[in-house]
Amino acid sequence: MTKQPMRVWPAEGASRAPYWIYDDPEVFRVEQERIFGQSWCYVGLAAEVPEPGSFQRSHVGDRSVILVRDKEGKINVLENRCAHRGMEFCRASAGKATRFQCPYHQWTFDLQGNLCGVPFKRGIHGEGGMPDDFDLADHPLRKLRVTNHNGAVFASYAEEPEPFEQYLAEPMRAYFDRVFDGRPLRVLGYMRQRIPCNWKLILENTKDPYHATLLHSFLVTFGLFRADQKSEVRLDASGRHAALVSRHGARQLTVAASEMASYKSDYTLQDRRLLDMQAEFRDGVGVVMMTLFPNLILHQQGNSLATRHIVPRGPDSTELSWTFFGYEDDDEALSARRLRQANLFGPAGLVSLDDGEALKATQEGLRNGRDACAVVEMGGRDREDANVMVTEVALRAFFHHYMHVMGFTRAEDER
Ligand code: FES
Ligand SMILES: [Fe+2]
Repeated sequence: MTKQPMRVWPAEGASRAPYWIYDDPEVFRVEQERIFGQSWCYVGLAAEVPEPGSFQRSHVGDRSVILVRDKEGKINVLENRCAHRGMEFCRASAGKATRFQCPYHQWTFDLQGNLCGVPFKRGIHGEGGMPDDFDLADHPLRKLRVTNHNGAVFASYAEEPEPFEQYLAEPMRAYFDRVFDGRPLRVLGYMRQRIPCNWKLILENTKDPYHATLLHSFLVTFGLFRADQKSEVRLDASGRHAALVSRHGARQLTVAASEMASYKSDYTLQDRRLLDMQAEFRDGVGVVMMTLFPNLILHQQGNSLATRHIVPRGPDSTELSWTFFGYEDDDEALSARRLRQANLFGPAGLVSLDDGEALKATQEGLRNGRDACAVVEMGGRDREDANVMVTEVALRAFFHHYMHVMGFTRAEDER
């Protein structure tokens, strides 16, 4: 970090977030190394590469990778960087291949990332060519460690990442497995957007139920997620992951809700089927919003299921890639419900468009005061599970973990 004082976290610790973490290029570089270069990161769904040879481009942090199913049916995650001169050789977003050939000098790799062909390796008419001791086996694509957990694929750049069972430990695992229960998935569609904000703001937005009950007129007015409903915030031991759980329809509209500025008593829906949700999970929970550090949001809102893959594109630009899915055994009516409810999400979603605007304006605002910091004290200053929506506890837990991974010390520790 360029200026020494910028490395120091405010003395209050995790109940403050200094604004320089959101736009300093050096912080961004260190995050790629210490967070995205080390952690397990979500890369896609196994259902997106259903057959041998199916591939899909993805990202780990800001690095381009390829998710590919090989001839044996195993899913590999390969860095999209040619072993010759570094070209990002795979240009298609998805497809089928028997091998990958880099366009530049046509070095060819198999579906496990091994180099299997170099043109003019022996030269022409005895002239040129690679040295005699050049061995194809020495020049594979970079291969990441891979875990396919019930159809959700995670990869890590670390040589020895932490055991996946430790990364996705209870109680988060139960929330995750409630959606990824082992049934084969069916991809229903994609939405992608570029939000001009730092990647952490997107993750934090989903750890923040406080805003959901205030900013989102649609949620408040139509009762999908409101402060007066029975709800919980669950954290894992490290604080990096979180699950926000809400049972919509559990309570009638209270005076408090009707006083919220975003409650619009005169708003009605022309098509009420948007709210027509079918109970499908045994626990009867209407909304579970999960954040898995560092780059995955998993949402179950009614019958809408989606992964939101966070791809940082620079300190103040992030791609958010939404994959909507259901199960292979869904009937037509349930698939139709899932698709209708997808109208709430994505760049122009009836709910999510508010977030895109709020995050853009937040990034713009914090630029005005890099020395200032966010105040994160709603619900106290601790990092314990909460049974209320008006809390920022999951943000404090996140900042606590983030400070640790990034090696930031608090101002008072410096004294
Ligand atoms: S850069 Fe890929 S073959 Fe040369
Ligand atoms: Fe939101």
